[in-house]
Amino acid sequence: MSKNIYVTTAIPYVNGAPHIGHVFDYLLADTYARYQNKKGNKVRFQAGTDEHGNKIFKKAAESNTPVKEYVDKNSEKFQEFIKKLGVEYTDFIRTTDEDHERRVQEIWKKLEDHIYKDSYEGWYCEGCERFVTDNEHKENDGVCPDHQKPYIKLEEENYYLRISDFKDELKAAILSDTIKILPDFRKKEMLKLLEDSPDVSISRPKKQLTWGIPVPGDDSQVMYVWLDALSNYITVLGYPDKDISDFWPADLQVVGKDILRFHSIIWPAILLGLGLPLPKVLISHGFVLTGGAKMSKSLGNVVEPLEVLDKYGLPALRYYFLRHADTFLDADFTWEKYDTAYNNELANDLGNLVQRLATLCKKNEIGGLTEFEAKEYKEYDAIMSDFYFSKAFDYAWEKVQKINKRIDDEKPWALVKEGKNEEAAEVLKSLVDDLLNANELLEPFLPDTSVQIRKIFTSDSIVPPAVPLFPKK
Ligand code: MSP
Repeated sequence: MSKNIYVTTAIPYVNGAPHIGHVFDYLLADTYARYQNKKGNKVRFQAGTDEHGNKIFKKAAESNTPVKEYVDKNSEKFQEFIKKLGVEYTDFIRTTDEDHERRVQEIWKKLEDHIYKDSYEGWYCEGCERFVTDNEHKENDGVCPDHQKPYIKLEEENYYLRISDFKDELKAAILSDTIKILPDFRKKEMLKLLEDSPDVSISRPKKQLTWGIPVPGDDSQVMYVWLDALSNYITVLGYPDKDISDFWPADLQVVGKDILRFHSIIWPAILLGLGLPLPKVLISHGFVLTGGAKMSKSLGNVVEPLEVLDKYGLPALRYYFLRHADTFLDADFTWEKYDTAYNNELANDLGNLVQRLATLCKKNEIGGLTEFEAKEYKEYDAIMSDFYFSKAFDYAWEKVQKINKRIDDEKPWALVKEGKNEEAAEVLKSLVDDLLNANELLEPFLPDTSVQIRKIFTSDSIVPPAVPLFPKK
């Protein structure tokens, strides 16, 4: 029976253009969405942009652009970028959408029993948009390691969400995998953070923050960006105007390791406060490094995603970041590794295989498998249900390599030479069957390539592509 599946991605800040680190959320979610679509399920796939907060407001001012114009332009860039990655989202939300703003205010009102006002003094990182503890401030010598910016001292009146109201329930939900946090070592980190978590500030005084959603009933306060941003996952479905139970709770939420804390504590606390179920699975991916180092403008080692795309095209980008980046760990990108992956793997293992097998079939007049039916691969499905996408991709790639080995071992051309034409035909047909099966497993990762391969080997007559799928460079 067909199921409804909901998958979400973190919504990036629009304080700049997309960078290579942004590809993970989209590629992982897209792979899952395509896998579920293939199973015949109905998928809703959200993407969007996070457009409020001081960081964005300041950037707009620096570039002398009215803030609305600035966020419109950058949100557009993200939408174009996501499409270039071959990512097929179904819903796009901007936190400046009128419906979103109104719905977040409704959410605030529903949470009022768990909200109180208090004053606070502490260290704040504008890059992270969060207060840090005195300990964190000390350990990092007063400078945020993620943003290389000094923490600023803030003293203000804020509204707080009483995390303590939900701690026990949330802890039990995480421990029992009611909300499954992956990988496991991150789940342990989150349990520890939850234990120590104070109540969280969910507003800022208007004099500090003007670019945000007003707090209902208090003109002097504006909502904290995280409350606004996290709510997108349900406002995009129409909450609270609409019944969202067809798609909520989400089947999968994808985020980076730096923002897992917001999704493991504040977000579930909001949901519990609203009486909504928790997402089923929350996965956190690592960061993209280059040559083992963090990318930064000052180091001059920033990798531009459009350059990566232009070099060998989209399948190569998807291949590299979905297979060579372990789903749950940091990944390393260097042009050298990228070249090797393209030439030695995509071009050699897959491109050559397609060319070679299609040529052999054509020569021996072997038609395509027009009635091809895919087999079931339980192991692959099991890895997919653990959300270990890079491992599932490995599994599919091993199948490709095995076909190459079979061709070398079984030498259909030698059989022809020996006059064993029927035997050769059997071998070729069975190789085509293997390739079409492997191709099914590849599809969520390399959708365009997979369509091409299916077309070649399910046509009445097999014709090798005029230009190889991945010409060597
Ligand atoms: N706006 C928040 C997310 C709100 S979600 C309700 C935010 N934006 S972000 O632009 O900083 O990051 C967007 C996504 O990209 C996050 O999942 C983040 O972890 C990811 N990455 C940002 N830099 C990254 C790398 N260098 N490498 C991999 N992922 C990175 O956080």
